[in-house]
Amino acid sequence: MLDIAKIRADFPILSRQVNGKPLVYLDNGASAQKPQVVIDAITRGYASEYANVHRGLHTLSTISTERYEAARSTIARFLNAASDQHIVFTSGTTEALNLVSYAWARPRLQAGDEIILSIMEHHANIVPWHFLRAQGVVIKWVDVDATGDLDPQAVLDAITPRTRLIAITHMSNVLGTVVDVAAICAGAKAQGVPVLVDGSQAAVHMAVDVQALGCDFYAITGHKLYGPSGSGAIYIAPERQAEMAPFMGGGDMIDTVTRDTVTYNTPPMKFEAGTPGIVQQIGLGAALDYMMAIGMQNIAAHEQELRDYAAQRLAGLNWISVQGQSASKGAIFSMTMNGAHPHDISTILDKRGIAVRAGAHCAMPLMQHLGITASARASFAMYNTKQEVDALISGLELCHDLLG
Ligand SMILES: Cc1ncc(COP(=O)(O)O)c(C=O)c1O
Repeated sequence: MLDIAKIRADFPILSRQVNGKPLVYLDNGASAQKPQVVIDAITRGYASEYANVHRGLHTLSTISTERYEAARSTIARFLNAASDQHIVFTSGTTEALNLVSYAWARPRLQAGDEIILSIMEHHANIVPWHFLRAQGVVIKWVDVDATGDLDPQAVLDAITPRTRLIAITHMSNVLGTVVDVAAICAGAKAQGVPVLVDGSQAAVHMAVDVQALGCDFYAITGHKLYGPSGSGAIYIAPERQAEMAPFMGGGDMIDTVTRDTVTYNTPPMKFEAGTPGIVQQIGLGAALDYMMAIGMQNIAAHEQELRDYAAQRLAGLNWISVQGQSASKGAIFSMTMNGAHPHDISTILDKRGIAVRAGAHCAMPLMQHLGITASARASFAMYNTKQEVDALISGLELCHDLLG
């Protein structure tokens, strides 16, 4: 099991106070805090090892390039990709999903072709597909059931001869539902339909193996993985890479350029134009090394304990509704309280040093499906404790006294 005191000591920000109270950081679904090893990697990157990558033969460029490419290897290991070449660096999940939309889907999909999405998707896994409606592509939606579960068979039943892609979250950022992506991939593969997985939330909380899942695309975002903002990556299966046309043109993605012609670099660099987030990706590598040293199974076990404890304590507050009751649920609790606006809940909790997110969580279609406009979300990470669950509960009791 985890040594939580030691882990907490690794995150300098966790010892600060907010509004005169110890920080209780429960907004990890939006972005996670950074351990000292990540801060050190960034500092070292800029203070003593910085130069551009893939461009120079001088010492600093060589060091920078080695560190940057080592981060790619770390990501490949983290996702169990068969090769570093299957990992394309991006600035986060939003860029990753737009890359697939622009570089894979846009040149290939025709009017009448279909993309299947779940109603739980984050806007980052909706809007890039909406863009394709301009060329006649049809979006088909699959709903969750009353507990917030997504039946893999319902997704597979939505497949028609015109289905070109299933784009699905691995874990809902609102409901916490973990989707049986392996079942969807197996069923889709049997019908020749590629599957893109938005792993923004899931990869933070469980071991991910892209080969075992059998997915075609798997996107992760560094800032939720205890790494820097502006870092991230997407696993792209080699068959899909071969089908992609470059999206952004510029340095690094080319082999030769003449006045009249361009030839391209090999993947993954073919999809990485311009100077990348060098130190950000190095920082992400440090974050993933840190997580793997702790052990994804240990992280998952600790967070499941937190989930069970928080679920049990919240069940005692009969004036709180929790959205999403899936048995697969992670430690994410989106809550509404009769008569209280989520923004007011968040503001009152903040006075107690408790950070939660209030709003639509970039998931408006899901909010419409749930019949609400906003919720207050407490989302847990490996460094959270049961004492922090207790602090949340007493903060919510204060909200009820003041607003309910
Ligand atoms: C499920 C999900 N998908 C996509 C995103 C967007 O990721 P990024 O912040 O890297 O653009 C988020 C972040 O909130 C998310 O929770």
